[in-house]
Amino acid sequence: MRTSSATVLSVLLAACGATPAPTTPTDPAQLGISNFAAPAPGLYTSGQPTAAQLEQLAALGVRHVINLKPASEKGTGWEEAEAKALGITFVRLPIAGQPDVTFANATRLAEAMRASNGAPMLVCCQSSNRVGALLALDAFQNGGRSADQALAFGRAAGLSKLEPVVQQLLAAAPPAPPAAAVAAPVAKPKSLKKAMQAIEDDWHHIEGLLADPAKDLPGLAAAATRVAAAMKLGYGTFEDTEVPDFAKLAREAEAALLELAQKATAGDGDAIKAMRPTLQPQHCARCHDAVEEVHG
Ligand code: HEC
Repeated sequence: MRTSSATVLSVLLAACGATPAPTTPTDPAQLGISNFAAPAPGLYTSGQPTAAQLEQLAALGVRHVINLKPASEKGTGWEEAEAKALGITFVRLPIAGQPDVTFANATRLAEAMRASNGAPMLVCCQSSNRVGALLALDAFQNGGRSADQALAFGRAAGLSKLEPVVQQLLAAAPPAPPAAAVAAPVAKPKSLKKAMQAIEDDWHHIEGLLADPAKDLPGLAAAATRVAAAMKLGYGTFEDTEVPDFAKLAREAEAALLELAQKATAGDGDAIKAMRPTLQPQHCARCHDAVEEVHG
């Protein structure tokens, strides 16, 4: 791995406090807010910001802040008055501890988040652990994500010590209707071949976007979710037991497509571009070759 000397230098300078920040921050990630993350476009998550950081967030266009700490908790309780002066909508949704980590509160959080109407927003608590926990539950319950995907999203948003609690809730919940079911290309394909023909447009859309994912991240996420659903049919539903490793190849292809969808949702364009050289050869061609080998 290459690290530019400028980066090393700035880290060292920041660490010993030798110089004041030389430039005005242009991105909320530069404000030094504890456990800051940007798990989805327009969504920032973090630990408790200071008054100065809240002011800087406002200056960078963040108009909506949700804090999950009860007002009585350390370091908070002052934001209501401050936010008003800054033109920020501030919402407090008290999640006092583990018993408040529930699907109902996740839905409350999702409702509070919707009020931002797509404007950049920050959801915070003390360490972002509660934030990640509720966002994981919401992703599963309302976002059509699998338990694994929901957990990954939660972690990207700060989920840490509450992960076992979230895992238990996810395991006990009835399976959510997957996003793929909402927009399935064909309700009940007659064969894997039919299912694959049905995802051809989605696949071409994906191939077109791999080099420049930023053009349509939501479209990429949706298409990858649908293609993943078709791959899933390769084990269980239409498994070809004559082809060695058929189910395994299908599982791997499904996982790769779900990973792609997750990266698109997280807005991670570079990680998506990195998948470009391997996706088709490893996950499509490999199985097609294996099929041809057996069936000609
Ligand atoms: C687990 C194995 C497996 C994987 C993985 C797989 N396919 Fe297929 N695919 C098949 C089989 C089996 C057929 C049907 C072959 C036949 O009967 O002609 C097929 C057929 C197709 C067809 C239809 C071709 C036609 O004759 O009309 C398309 C399109 C297709 N696959 C696309 C893809 C894409 C894109 C991927 C990767 C994202 C992929 N497949 C991954 C097994 C697989």
